[in-house]
Amino acid sequence: MTPDVIEAAIFALRRGEIVAMPTETVYGLAADATNPEAVVRIFDAKGRPRINPLIAHVSSMEMAQKEAVVSALAAQLAEAFWPGPLTLVLPASRGGSVCTLARAGLPTVALRMPAHPLALALIKAMGGPLVAPSANASGRLSPTRAAHVRDSLGDKIGIVLDDDESPETTRVGIESTIVSVIDERLTILRDGGVTAQMLEDVTQQDVHRATGADPDRPTAPGQLLAHYAPKAPLRLDAVFAGPGETLIGFGDVDGVLNLSETGDLRKAAANLFDHLHSADALGRSIAVAPIPNEGIGLAINDRLKRAAAAHGNLDKD
Ligand code: TXA
Ligand code: MG
Repeated sequence: MTPDVIEAAIFALRRGEIVAMPTETVYGLAADATNPEAVVRIFDAKGRPRINPLIAHVSSMEMAQKEAVVSALAAQLAEAFWPGPLTLVLPASRGGSVCTLARAGLPTVALRMPAHPLALALIKAMGGPLVAPSANASGRLSPTRAAHVRDSLGDKIGIVLDDDESPETTRVGIESTIVSVIDERLTILRDGGVTAQMLEDVTQQDVHRATGADPDRPTAPGQLLAHYAPKAPLRLDAVFAGPGETLIGFGDVDGVLNLSETGDLRKAAANLFDHLHSADALGRSIAVAPIPNEGIGLAINDRLKRAAAAHGNLDKD
């Protein structure tokens, strides 16, 4: 990555254009969070319903405090997990600069400080928050490589910052954990790299889960059932490949691809979208081995369940 490319990206962002950038979770489609015209471009490029709010990415605690009311509990989480794969949904502050459209009109704002140096550098250079949803067409598989972004949205984005050769590329591999911290109550809205146990260990508080999710009125619209859709149908808990299926293995259940031969769940998360993209490219149905529902396995199974539900039944999110 040359300084020229970064300069060009910042120039484009300042003009209200959208830029795909790597983060340590998945590639994001970035735009100036304070510019409604730029934010509209994000919704349009993704085909994303405008009721679905975006995460504003910050590069410092000061920036976060400008955008949201950061309680002591929220600050404790930020301190422990930022920069990193944790998004905090907090009361938006009056003087905040994230535009209403980015927040989908909600009184809250979702904030994350990404760990990827390139993402951080862009936010710092902008001097304000960047919204960045995953850089895929709405409802589709999230991208963990620049090539995935180009395949899905290439014709709609001017600049795709390519980090595929670097070890920094999407180390977590699945999207951030989303936790709302409202009235000192912690609620997980989306599972991710930071597990409930990790949140409890840091805060010594109970962590709740968004329950009774009404699919038409989701608290985090990413919770819609059909999401993360590959093109092919997907079968879960498979221990062998059926006729015409590509099996993605895990541990001892071996397939054409394996999420982690040693049964390492963090590694499996890092490989998840990459293997789904690769299997999808083979054009056959996909089967995935059982994944233990513990730790980051919860987040993996969440993505897989939605991917399986999504085929032929794609909600727009
Ligand atoms: O790891 C990530 O979080 C990636 C990288 C690029 O940072 N971004 C990402 O963004 O996954 P996106 O737009 O694909 O998912 C954002 C989720 C959506 O499910 C949205 O509904 C939820 O965050 N969200 C945003 N603002 C919210 C708010 N104020 N209240 C509740 N949920 C919110
Ligand atoms: Mg997404």
